[in-house]
Amino acid sequence: MPSLFETCYRMDGKLTDKAERLAVELERNPPAYFDGLHMTLLEGVKPITKVRMPSGEVKEMLMLGSNSFLNLNHHPRVLEAERKAAEKYGVGAGSPPLYAGTTDVHAELERKLAEFCHTEDALIFPAGYSGNIGVLSGLCRMGDAIFCDSSNHASLFDGARLSGAEVIPYLHLNTSHLQLKLEGCKAAGKIIVTDGVFSMEGSLAPVDELVRLKNQHDTMLMVDDAHGFWAVGPGGQGTASLFNCRDEIDIHYGTFSKALGYTGGFAAASHVVIEYLRYYARSAFFSSALPVTVAAGVLEAMKVVEEEPVHLQNLKRNRDFFQNELERRGFDTLNSRSAIIPLLVGDEAKLGALQMALFNDGIFSNIGTTPAVKASRCRLRLNVMATHSLEQLAVAADIIERHARKLGILPEN
Ligand SMILES: Cc1ncc(COP(=O)(O)O)c(C=O)c1O
Repeated sequence: MPSLFETCYRMDGKLTDKAERLAVELERNPPAYFDGLHMTLLEGVKPITKVRMPSGEVKEMLMLGSNSFLNLNHHPRVLEAERKAAEKYGVGAGSPPLYAGTTDVHAELERKLAEFCHTEDALIFPAGYSGNIGVLSGLCRMGDAIFCDSSNHASLFDGARLSGAEVIPYLHLNTSHLQLKLEGCKAAGKIIVTDGVFSMEGSLAPVDELVRLKNQHDTMLMVDDAHGFWAVGPGGQGTASLFNCRDEIDIHYGTFSKALGYTGGFAAASHVVIEYLRYYARSAFFSSALPVTVAAGVLEAMKVVEEEPVHLQNLKRNRDFFQNELERRGFDTLNSRSAIIPLLVGDEAKLGALQMALFNDGIFSNIGTTPAVKASRCRLRLNVMATHSLEQLAVAADIIERHARKLGILPEN
């Protein structure tokens, strides 16, 4: 049965009809997870963060819902870099990059990103989402073919559709299925597009296999490692580096919004591809540049990750420990190999009840359900940060287990 959100999206009639239907249905019968979508943080992300619940109650919660994996948001060097940039440049960019929006800080950040990805050049976008729209709709046209893992992030699908190219989904992580699709394709302009770390399950794309296929079929390969850069692989260099094939990727894509806790996206590739995208990626060309304070903060955060290995070490220690604690209690963590650890629930009502019980016990978590994943594969989504203590994670695992047993998600002991 389609969910309420799907029904209201697809409804015919005047455009306001669906909005009114959604409002009525949410008032009459809100889904169990509805409150969880309306939490307000009253301070920056920390292991224990002050949160206002929709009821108005303010609570200190163990933060297991942020993508700020390294949790550098309050790092003194990052704050100082932002402050200095604000004093020198003021706030905001005021123009797109090719008009008056590029400062020497943006140029340095692009150089640094290219160096980080071992590419000739890089291009910054004001948001991770809009960057993917720009790259795919800028590069591909009607007559081209874009091969997408079926679990790719929405921004990759949206960019692919906007381009007018044929969008060819293949079964999640299934390279045999991709091979069949590639064999049947006559287009000259072809690109395989995949998340590096899949955002709803924390699993990794088989990048080495994708490289083999792209070479066999004379296709480009784009890896969106939004959740992998500065979190996965040696030195946080991402999923492709974990598979020893960083230099074989045609377009690396990443965001500053996950491990670094910022906002913005970037593509890194050969000089000619990046130069092309500077003109044809409309979400860069027609959009004001990333604020210079953000560019300065991101640059400093990148240096912190390089110079203070403790952040990556703690992240790895914490995610290994927490996944192990959850698995030994009987949870299915869907082969996560990153700081995103999902717990498969498969029943939206139980998932909503679990999330609410956790909020009430002071644990902030997210859920993954439609439209991101099928309702029958819905899950609790727990994000580990480098700044958690092992004790906090052990206590959280106990509380999650207790509620999961009470709700019938795990069998009674
Ligand atoms: C793989 C992937 N790409 C792009 C994005 C969009 O990034 P942003 O939130 O910075 O707009 C996300 C966000 O979750 C993502 O998971």
